[in-house]
Amino acid sequence: MAQNWTPSSWRQKAIQQVPDYPDLAALAATEERLAKFPPLVFAGEARRLKSALANVAEGKGFLLQGGDCAESFAEHGADTIRDFFRAFLQMAVVLTFGAQQPVVKVGRIAGQFAKPRSSGIEKQGDVTLPSYRGDIINGIEFTEEARVPNPERQIMAYRQSAATLNLLRAFAMGGYANLENVNQWMLGFVKDSPQAERYRKLADRISETMDFMKAIGITAENHPNLRETDFFTSHEALLLGYEQALTRVDSTSGDWYATSGHMIWIGDRTRQPDHAHIEYCRGIKNPIGLKCGPSLTGDGLLELIDLLNPQNEAGRLTLICRFGHDKVAENLPRLIRAVEREGKKVVWSCDPMHGNTITLNNYKTRPFERILSEVESFFQIHRAEGTHPGGIHIEMTGNDVTECTGGARALSGDDLADRYHTHCDPRLNADQALELAFLLAERMKGGRDEKRMVVNG
Ligand code: PEP
Ligand code: CO
Repeated sequence: MAQNWTPSSWRQKAIQQVPDYPDLAALAATEERLAKFPPLVFAGEARRLKSALANVAEGKGFLLQGGDCAESFAEHGADTIRDFFRAFLQMAVVLTFGAQQPVVKVGRIAGQFAKPRSSGIEKQGDVTLPSYRGDIINGIEFTEEARVPNPERQIMAYRQSAATLNLLRAFAMGGYANLENVNQWMLGFVKDSPQAERYRKLADRISETMDFMKAIGITAENHPNLRETDFFTSHEALLLGYEQALTRVDSTSGDWYATSGHMIWIGDRTRQPDHAHIEYCRGIKNPIGLKCGPSLTGDGLLELIDLLNPQNEAGRLTLICRFGHDKVAENLPRLIRAVEREGKKVVWSCDPMHGNTITLNNYKTRPFERILSEVESFFQIHRAEGTHPGGIHIEMTGNDVTECTGGARALSGDDLADRYHTHCDPRLNADQALELAFLLAERMKGGRDEKRMVVNG
């Protein structure tokens, strides 16, 4: 067990990004209530994810992590969850085919509610109010009342997470993810997109393979791997009072686990080694993500790795790199070299979203070509360093939103107003997400062919 650690030891540390709750007694009462609620996930599931990620760290798998920037109470509904899950499964199938390796599926969902902000205040005209910090904390409406942090929202977020997780479990295990349905996962609006034909071809090949396997006696009925999939949840562990209330001892191992989600991550703004967020995360046994932005040095990273993964356990730590298309070449190699020099076991994942946000026509957006460009550089750099580009971390939705520009439908700045629904950062729509998956699959296939040439040549 981590030394001198308790689920509340973070409270003794300096902390960033804390909401200003006006009624601390009400906050404490809410946390007490939450502490009695059932866990959302189980320690055994988190361990299962960790061992899948250990394979990725060893170069034998790929991590697909994605979902909303911020889940919202307003968008909570069965169709939204289903459409997300469908788009996500489509991406996973395309990537599995490209990588010819298992794809570890982790949603930014069922708990992704709290947001770090670059400023504590927001100004509109002459009015200044506290910033929106995610539905688990305050309301997005620009009114004084909505922006007051309200602890009751934590209860609502917990309940929404439970309902979302329940549906996701049913989709993953109850037949929806059956590979025999691979042709039916096409979303209405993707059907007439340039990606549709590519996907249909791939789905036909999978169906053909399934028919062959059926002929020799391997069916979805007798092979659960064909009809079920492992789907895990994740979110940024930003609101530590909420996380602490859901931190529980696993009765089989005696270890502490965050039971708010299978994997949690530390944001780029809250990764100070002597501060509260690192303190909380070092003591729980879940797989942990660490966002790595341009200000992180090689030594700084090694210090964080020693705090978060002192045993150098593979699968424990995923480094989610988010530099920006024009900064990745300058920043990623030093981190890879530091990690390699010290023999640290990590999963390298690429978040091509958070370093590529711009403002266009008063909308926060991300040009699709910059997202692709960061992913391309990430792959090239890893190939050059001889390390495994192990994953991708994206903000996406299954809905037909217009939040990121570009892509095969060439969304322009003028299109952004049409269906801009995000509560925080701009997300890829299902079409753009699928396009990204095809590009990744090509890169992975390229990497495989290269390796084969080395072996044979
Ligand atoms: C996020 O993932 O939504 C986020 C805020 O990321 P970062 O901490 O990398 O800025
Ligand atoms: Co975001």
